[in-house]
Amino acid sequence: MAPHNVLILGGMQHLARPLLVWLLALLHGNGSAPEASSAAGAGAQQALGSVRLVDKFFVSSEGSSTFVDPPVLAALKDPRVEYRQANLTIPATAASVFEPGPNGPWDIVFDLTGEGVLSADVPAQLLLERTTKLAGMLAAEAARRGVKAYVRDTPPFWKSKMDEGLIRESTSPAQRSMQKGPRSYFWYEAERAVANVEDLPVAILRSAGIWGPTQYHGELPPRIAFGEIYRSLKEPVKILWSADLRLNSLHSTDWCSAAWATAQWLVTRSRAEANELAGELLPAVAPKDKGKGLGVDWNKDIELCCPRAKTPKAPVFNVTDGRDTDQGKLLDVIGRHYNVETGFVNAAINAWARLNLASVVDEMNEKHMEEATKLKANAVPPITYTPFTLFLDQEAVAQRCIALDSSKIERVIGWTPRRTFAPQGVQEMVESFQKAGVWGHFD
Ligand SMILES: *[C@@H]1O[C@H](CO)[C@@H](O)[C@H](O)[C@H]1NC(C)=O
Ligand SMILES: *[C@@H]1O[C@H](CO)[C@@H](O)[C@H](O)[C@H]1NC(C)=O
Repeated sequence: MAPHNVLILGGMQHLARPLLVWLLALLHGNGSAPEASSAAGAGAQQALGSVRLVDKFFVSSEGSSTFVDPPVLAALKDPRVEYRQANLTIPATAASVFEPGPNGPWDIVFDLTGEGVLSADVPAQLLLERTTKLAGMLAAEAARRGVKAYVRDTPPFWKSKMDEGLIRESTSPAQRSMQKGPRSYFWYEAERAVANVEDLPVAILRSAGIWGPTQYHGELPPRIAFGEIYRSLKEPVKILWSADLRLNSLHSTDWCSAAWATAQWLVTRSRAEANELAGELLPAVAPKDKGKGLGVDWNKDIELCCPRAKTPKAPVFNVTDGRDTDQGKLLDVIGRHYNVETGFVNAAINAWARLNLASVVDEMNEKHMEEATKLKANAVPPITYTPFTLFLDQEAVAQRCIALDSSKIERVIGWTPRRTFAPQGVQEMVESFQKAGVWGHFD
C-alpha cells in the first residue's frame, strides 16, 4: 500500500501537537516512540506520507499566537510536514486545505476542531458555529474528497452522576451524561453532524481525561499541579467529594495510538462495514434546562447540522487507559510524586459546595493561582509566560464523573493502552513542562 497522507484539523492547543510528534516517530520508524509499534493493533504498520496541520493560529519559531513547544516547532521543520494558518469556518478556506499536497490527496483526517477545550465558558453561538457547524462542513468536504478515514475526537465534556456507575444501558449515553451548559450539547451535535455525512468513513472517539507531556489543558493537568501548590503551601492536598469519584484517564501517547489504530481500521472498510461492526445510533436529544442558554431554536433544523428527525449511525469508541482512574488513585499518585499528604475535605465543606459550588470554585482557584504566581516568580529563571493554568471551571469541579467503558475499542479494533496514571509518567510530564519553559523547578 502507498503511504498515507494525514491531514490534522485544529487541536494545536491540545492533541494535534502530541499527534504530530507521535506520527513523525512512525514516519522515521526509528523506534523512538515505543507505543508506535503497537499502533495498528496486530496489523502491519502502515507507512506515513506527508502531514498537513491546519489551525487558526499563527505559528513560527520566532513566536506564535498560541504556545507551541520546541519539539513541535522542530517537527514542523520536517520537509514532509506543513503547517497552515487558516480560518476553517470560511467554506472556501476549508475546501482549500483539502487540496492535495506534494504526495497527493489526503487519506486520513483527524478532526480536532471545536471550541471549549480550554474552558467550558464559551458562548453558545460560538459553540454552534465553530464546533457543530464547522464539524458538519469539514466532514462534508472530506466526503467530497473521498478521504479513506475520518476520526473525530470528543473530549470528556459529558460527565456521569455518581450513581450512574460505569455502565448503564437503560439510557442513551449522550442523554445520561449531558450537562446543563451548551458545550456538551453542541459537541454531541457535532458528532451527529459528522455522522450525518453518510458515505464518510468516520469514527468518533470519546476520550477520557488526557494527561502527558505538553498537555496544558483539561481536567487532569491542573489537578496534577495541585501537588506542587500544596507542597509549597506546606499543607495537605484536600479536594472536594470522595475517592470513588471517577476521573478516567488517558495518556496522550495512548490517545495518539488509539486515533491512529482507528484510522487504520477505517481505511480498509466502507462506512457500511464499519457501522456493521461498531455503529451506534446518535439520536437527537433535548437539551437540559429546556435549551435555555443555547441561544438557538434547537428543535428546528439548522444548516450543516444533522436534521432533528434523523438518527444517524456511526462507529463510536470510548478511549481510556482501562484502569478506571478515580480521585482516590489520582491523589495517591500525586501524593507519591510530590511527597505530600492528600485527602478530601470534610462532609460539611462538601455539603456547602453542593449548594455554593461557584463560590467554592472561586475561592479554590484564587488560592491556587496566587500560589502559582509566587512559584513562577521565584522560579530560576522566572516563568514569565505559560499556557498552563491551574484554573478549573465549575463544570470541571462539579460532582460528576468521567466514567467511560473502553472495552469496545479493544475488542473491535484490537487497540490496547500502554500507559496508566502513575508517578513516573507524572515526572515525564513535569519535565516536558520544564523543558518547554512553561513551568519551573521548584524544589
Ligand atoms: C473566521 O471567519 C469567520 C467567518 O467569516 C469570522 O466570523 C471569524 O471572525 C474569523 N476568525 C478569525 C480568527 O479571523
Ligand atoms: C462508553 O461508556 C459509557 C459509560 O460506561 C457506556 O454507557 C457506553 O455504552 C460506552 N460507549 C461505547 C460506544 O462503548
